[in-house]
Amino acid sequence: MAGRLEGKVAIVTGAAGGIGKAVSEAYVAEGARVVINDIDAGAATLLAKELGDNAVAEGSAIGTGAAAEAVVGTAIEAWGKVDILVNNAGILRDRMTHKMSEEDFDQVIQVHLKGTWACGREVIKLWRPLAKEEKKDEAQSGAAPHRKIINVTSPSGLLGAVGQSNYAAAKMGIVGLTKSWAKELGTLSINVNAVSPTALTAMTEPLIQNPEDKAKRLARFALGRYGDPEEIAPSFVFLASKESDYITGQILCVDGGLVI
Ligand SMILES: NC(=O)c1ccc[n+]([C@@H]2O[C@H](COP(=O)([O-])OP(=O)(O)OC[C@H]3O[C@@H](n4cnc5c(N)ncnc54)[C@H](O)[C@@H]3O)[C@@H](O)[C@H]2O)c1
Repeated sequence: MAGRLEGKVAIVTGAAGGIGKAVSEAYVAEGARVVINDIDAGAATLLAKELGDNAVAEGSAIGTGAAAEAVVGTAIEAWGKVDILVNNAGILRDRMTHKMSEEDFDQVIQVHLKGTWACGREVIKLWRPLAKEEKKDEAQSGAAPHRKIINVTSPSGLLGAVGQSNYAAAKMGIVGLTKSWAKELGTLSINVNAVSPTALTAMTEPLIQNPEDKAKRLARFALGRYGDPEEIAPSFVFLASKESDYITGQILCVDGGLVI
């Protein structure tokens, strides 16, 4: 099925590689126009070029209010609106807690938790007045359109993880944002869900370099393996599409049965 996101404008943060890239490609294939944000501006520009007229690159470092304004501003300048926000940008600074610096903690919290909050706040400020007007007109114009925020959490955010106290705290915080925003915004037809993925990417490849670590890690998956980013992207299409209009506040584990 194609065209499920026809006419929609999406922002994907951290979109130049891994899961964000696969999501951006799937969104364009489904008819959306996409802002490809990534701190690696060169890679973002390259991907946007590959995707053609339906993509534009943006190079802000997610984690501040100013970056959120810039990324939303790019969508407005290019296409005049935003319908879908995917808060995907992320980093790891894994260390046992006794060895973790304040910087390791702050950076991870800033990119994941504050970045998700700041980009979410920016689209929420944009969407609330629009959605309120549409709700007033609903009786005449039919059901108001849904807008979608898709956050990215992690098995570490659901279960905790050794060496990832910073990351697990940020990702569990993202679950809190997801559920709180779902409750704040549902009556305005703004759906807020999260995906908890596992995929082989630049983030996870270093974790399975050593054969012993690899065997231990893969044994935790019911399906016995990491997914490809292309196996994760369909869940983001679903959560952005009309098919998920009655789903909000949920965490969808697309993880080969790691969290059961
Ligand atoms: N791969 C997995 O198994 C897995 C598991 C659980 C959660 N996740 C989450 O999925 C998301 C994507 O991860 P991935 O595996 O594709 O990783 P990745 O490293 O392949 O991609 C992350 C992208 O984010 C970009 N980025 C980093 N900091 C940024 C910033 N401040 N602003 C903008 N862009 C920034 C990077 O340049 C990179 O392109 C992350 O939120 C990650 O925590 C991944």
